[in-house]
Amino acid sequence: MVDIVTLSAMQVTNALREEVLKLFNQAYGPVDEKQLELFFAPGRANLLGAHMDYNGGVVMPVALSRGTIMAVRPRSDRKLRMCSAQFGGELVELDLADLKVKRTKNWSAYAEGAIYCAEQAWGKLPGLDIAFCANLPMGRGLSSSASIECVVVFGLAHLLGINTDPDEIIRLAHRAENEYVGVRCGILDQAAISLAKPNTMLLMDCLEFTREHLPLPAGEASIAIVDSGVQRELGSTAFNQRVIECTQALAILQENLPGVTCLRDVTQQNFIDGKDRLSPILQRRVEHVVSEVERTNLGSRALRDGDLPSFGKCMTGAHESLRINYEVSTPELDCLVAAAVGVDGCYGARLTGAGFGGCIVALVHPSAQTQFSECVTKIYREQQGRETRVQWFQPAGGTTRL
Ligand code: GLA
Repeated sequence: MVDIVTLSAMQVTNALREEVLKLFNQAYGPVDEKQLELFFAPGRANLLGAHMDYNGGVVMPVALSRGTIMAVRPRSDRKLRMCSAQFGGELVELDLADLKVKRTKNWSAYAEGAIYCAEQAWGKLPGLDIAFCANLPMGRGLSSSASIECVVVFGLAHLLGINTDPDEIIRLAHRAENEYVGVRCGILDQAAISLAKPNTMLLMDCLEFTREHLPLPAGEASIAIVDSGVQRELGSTAFNQRVIECTQALAILQENLPGVTCLRDVTQQNFIDGKDRLSPILQRRVEHVVSEVERTNLGSRALRDGDLPSFGKCMTGAHESLRINYEVSTPELDCLVAAAVGVDGCYGARLTGAGFGGCIVALVHPSAQTQFSECVTKIYREQQGRETRVQWFQPAGGTTRL
């Protein structure tokens, strides 16, 4: 039996709410619900604009109705206590003054980083008791880490009555990932999570920080997320390596292009002119960026014209380039994308997130959902010997107080 019917966003959030209240009680003893504040941050899938954020390009993500819920209660001292249902509810306890000094390497680093950056921006924080629950798989390219960072910064702003705006929340959550956790990611994940609106796709220029919300009506497209079951190791190394390669390529090309400040401004002609000065690896990285700029241009135009088939072709083209030029795909992801685009009614598909494992995202006409789920799971089983299931989404809203 293929799992096609998924719970509504509301049902999912209600279940998570029950779970986090239970965890909070277990961890910190019986609590009066009135003392608690609850916040939710979604995950995201980026449909177009792969590895473009740190290259100054355009990204086109949607938020998913799955994410991280946080229950938080201020304390009268400076102690920080945290637990997460995804990590057995085990308590992490430290003093706020020790953040950064005693930086941990486990799941709590994302929350610690967010609290640290919030304190840097807003001054001394009170101690906190926090419980997290998530219904987003970790390390699968759906931004489970950014959803923790965003829910923490957003939640603290509300809890403390800070007069802030989404841009500051994005900046602080992004700093947590860059400076505390040590992943040199761009702004995509934190922006997608903080700025999302239901039934729209965000189109954001990561150089100018301009953005608009383009409609993605429920009757015309459903979003499929299919998990390859292979753990993605964003783990700083491979991802950071791509960032370094892009920085190196830019520095070389800039010798003859002094006005260019990021790779997204390198034209096809600039690339042809400067290609010989780049190593074969750097050539491939730049080729991806230059071609993805073209695809985001075509894709955004197609979306404005309501031309989903053309938009979908750009998604699939992006996957090809991620596979050949950026070298961040895996045989499992390639198999899922090939199976997905082989289904009538699938507009396009690509790996989502950084790559190296994790999930694919596909845009599918709603009438083709059943067939899509059946075909993709069957082909994946036959070709990779692995089970998977398809989860269906509509673009959800951003971070919120519950
Ligand atoms: C990860 C990073 C993002 C972005 C994507 C690739 O999700 O966190 O900043 O670079 O990879 O598009």
